[in-house]
Amino acid sequence: MSKAFELGEREFQTLSGLLRDRFGLDYPLQKKVELEKACASVSDGLDAAEFCCEVGSPSGEGLFQRFINRLTVGETYFFRIQAHFDALKSVILPGIFKKRAGEKRLRIWSAGCATGEEPYSVAMLILETLPDPGGWEIEFLATDVNTDFLSSARRGRYREWSFRKVDDYWRKKYFEPADGEWQVAADVRAMVKFVRANLIDERDNVVAVGPGSFDLILCRNVFIYFGDEGIERASALFRRYLAPGGWFVGGHAEPFVYDDGFEAVNFPGAFVYRKLTAEDVAAAKKRRLPAERPRKAVRVRPAAGGVERADRLVAVGKDSRALEQLTELVAAREDAELYWRMGRVLGNLGRYEEGLEWCRRGAALDKTNPYCYYIAALIQEEMGKNDEAFDNLRRSLYVEKSFVLGHFSMASYHRWRRDEERAARSYRNVLKLLDGRGEDEEISGDGLTVGRLREIVNQIL
Ligand SMILES: C[S@@+](CC[C@H](N)C(=O)[O-])C[C@H]1O[C@@H](n2cnc3c(N)ncnc32)[C@H](O)[C@@H]1O
Repeated sequence: MSKAFELGEREFQTLSGLLRDRFGLDYPLQKKVELEKACASVSDGLDAAEFCCEVGSPSGEGLFQRFINRLTVGETYFFRIQAHFDALKSVILPGIFKKRAGEKRLRIWSAGCATGEEPYSVAMLILETLPDPGGWEIEFLATDVNTDFLSSARRGRYREWSFRKVDDYWRKKYFEPADGEWQVAADVRAMVKFVRANLIDERDNVVAVGPGSFDLILCRNVFIYFGDEGIERASALFRRYLAPGGWFVGGHAEPFVYDDGFEAVNFPGAFVYRKLTAEDVAAAKKRRLPAERPRKAVRVRPAAGGVERADRLVAVGKDSRALEQLTELVAAREDAELYWRMGRVLGNLGRYEEGLEWCRRGAALDKTNPYCYYIAALIQEEMGKNDEAFDNLRRSLYVEKSFVLGHFSMASYHRWRRDEERAARSYRNVLKLLDGRGEDEEISGDGLTVGRLREIVNQIL
């Protein structure tokens, strides 16, 4: 790196302060080298002091934008986080379609859309699941602060890597080969409007979003780059822009700041949030219950102390804290129950290889523990290693035939491969296994109850 770009302490503070205040981004000292690299690549001969001065001045807008384009991370791919797409397909989208069936109009926002894989995935899912999409007015807004990502999203051409999780069905139906890449189909492209908007800048959002509210907002894998203040501000924005009954989907382990006007809804492998309607609030008051569903943490399998606390932290999306808790526990004892939980939180935090390693260790200690294979399968699915994920899923059922979550995942595996018959069989297995179990009994150690899972499966079947 050029010597001119060693940021001194004052310059580092100036720059990280600007990024925090203007973009919500968190750049602690450990990320100094990252900052210096991005500065160096756009500085055009300015030294560190001049650079900081320029980006902070009104004439430095262009430079700041180039800097942001270099700095922001656009890691994304089609149908990322299967659990979200399962929830969208089976419950969230059908619910929205039903609610809007009268006016035939719906609004969706993908915030922090990067190069477009996320909004295009949702658009394809809408085309698949909405009868007569042509008869609807669908407003699909996709925003990001990185203008290079947005240009590439508008162009709609993708390399192999973006399809790491996609079944061939989608590629054949919605893409065409184009000079060694894949061009997204015109009807999908036409559905999504890409606009530059900084989530922290009120003016940007007012212009991009326009009047009215959204039935669904996705903002996934954006808050991981934000500091607390940025998360609070962006959460407030989403709370305001959601329609009553509207849904918010954030990334794994990302804290969405919500209030009594929201409920956290548990799906297998995912938490999403729903803004309550006036009727929901009235009904909750009548029952004298808090409108927000309290989350209980109950043990999945008997496991010695401290685990419940970690489970509770996972249940409220605080995976980093759960990791600290579990790290202490695994230092004190060898236990497969702890090891797969390590795998789960590391997977939620995007530390896939480490997560897999803990699952392997768990399976080595207790070959019959289905969670060691199940969590490994979920991580591998995120990594796009579909065949290995399937093998692990099968293994989880082999060691425990009555493993409910394994059957549920198997069902969604078949469903995404359009094998409806096998999917229905697996869903029926889930219902059979839940038969006779108490509604409030927890099954996944992250808040998912028997009653909730039964409800989800019944909605799908
Ligand atoms: C890792 S990508 C997430 C892409 C996609 N949502 C997903 O989950 O696959 C994070 C995106 O957030 C965007 N971003 C970061 N700060 C932002 C801000 N203040 N306003 C809007 N977008 C921002 C980045 O430019 C980047 O494209």
